[in-house]
Amino acid sequence: MPQLSQLAGVLPASPIRKLVPYAEAAKRKGTKVYHLNIGQPDIETPAVSLEAIHNLPDKVLEYTHSAGIENYRRRLADFYNRRNLGVDYTNIIVTTGGSEALLFGFLAICNAGDQVIVPEPFYANYNSFAMEAGVEIVPIKSFIENGFALPAIAEFEKKITPKTRAILICNPNNPTGYLYSKEEIEQLRELVIKHDLYLLSDEVYSDFCYDGREHYSVLNLKGVDNNVIMFDSVSKRYSMCGVRAGALISRNCGVLDAVLRMGQARLCAPYIAQVAANAAIDTPQSYFDDVKKEYIARRNCVVEALQKMDGVVCPCPGGAFYAVAKLPIDNADKFAQWLLEEFEYEGETVMVAPATGFYYNPKDCPQDEIRIAYVLKIEDLQKAMKILEIALGEYNAKRG
Ligand SMILES: Cc1ncc(COP(=O)(O)O)c(C=O)c1O
Repeated sequence: MPQLSQLAGVLPASPIRKLVPYAEAAKRKGTKVYHLNIGQPDIETPAVSLEAIHNLPDKVLEYTHSAGIENYRRRLADFYNRRNLGVDYTNIIVTTGGSEALLFGFLAICNAGDQVIVPEPFYANYNSFAMEAGVEIVPIKSFIENGFALPAIAEFEKKITPKTRAILICNPNNPTGYLYSKEEIEQLRELVIKHDLYLLSDEVYSDFCYDGREHYSVLNLKGVDNNVIMFDSVSKRYSMCGVRAGALISRNCGVLDAVLRMGQARLCAPYIAQVAANAAIDTPQSYFDDVKKEYIARRNCVVEALQKMDGVVCPCPGGAFYAVAKLPIDNADKFAQWLLEEFEYEGETVMVAPATGFYYNPKDCPQDEIRIAYVLKIEDLQKAMKILEIALGEYNAKRG
């Protein structure tokens, strides 16, 4: 048989999905599974987008411009400018989801073997994008004790080598839900100026900021136009993950030109995705207000329940729709599998993501943390938390 590539041998399977066969087996046995493992929101996609797809007038579904439909880019720039981000439509390249924007970003700024420093735990697919681009991720630990705040700048400096090209953050963060403050982002500005690095910011959860706090985008930073690249997506903003529309935004002409040529090689982002995303820009503010209210209620329900459980530590996240909790268990991977394989309470169980999958080295990280995605209705979250509490008791009792 002809050989596969080295990449094919090392590219990891998604840690979020690796327990899926156990969940499927549990469902076949008739057990109801509450999915707290994946960030698939249950909120309805805005009606304006669904209508735009239903009412497509085209007789031919054509390619679009490789940078994205101009009208969409202009309206997206207006959307950002309503948030005072100072974006021209020429600063935007529409991509196939935020995922493609991240991959293009790595490819545009890194040579094989270059390094990108990322606070961990981090969104697991960064590992895959980095491997595809031949980039080495250099993790820098953040800690549950301070809610996963930005590591000290001195710690970043210790990791910087001649191969370092960029710092990558996710704000608000997946998996921790941590919302970086303006001060933290400003510190990174100083760091990237000092060491002549790129500052990459994944802001796909920017609409999900709680407790009256505002999102501070890297596009707000002054004097670093050539350093900053922002990655965005409509997946979470409008609860339309399956549409596959994202964007890379930068004021660095060299980066934009390189990414455009990558875009030309894949011809265009999906046309129908751009139609849906363009229409979504007319989503009324009331949609966002309602969604935010719902997620705050869900977060409070989950975090308060977790904080009441014996031996559980769970900082209250300021954004996104995830929380990382430290459980009184030996091993979160084993526990998550046990929940699906061996446990049920009144015919139901929960599926959680072990946080080891969000660290660069799953063996060199806390083994007792899980990530919970609070993307279910309150009643379901309440039941899921009750099941989790009972499960913790039973799991530990069985292990003495
Ligand atoms: C932090 C983060 N970045 C990027 C993505 C990818 O988003 P998209 O669906 O736009 O490709 C996700 C998806 O879950 C995510 O959580």
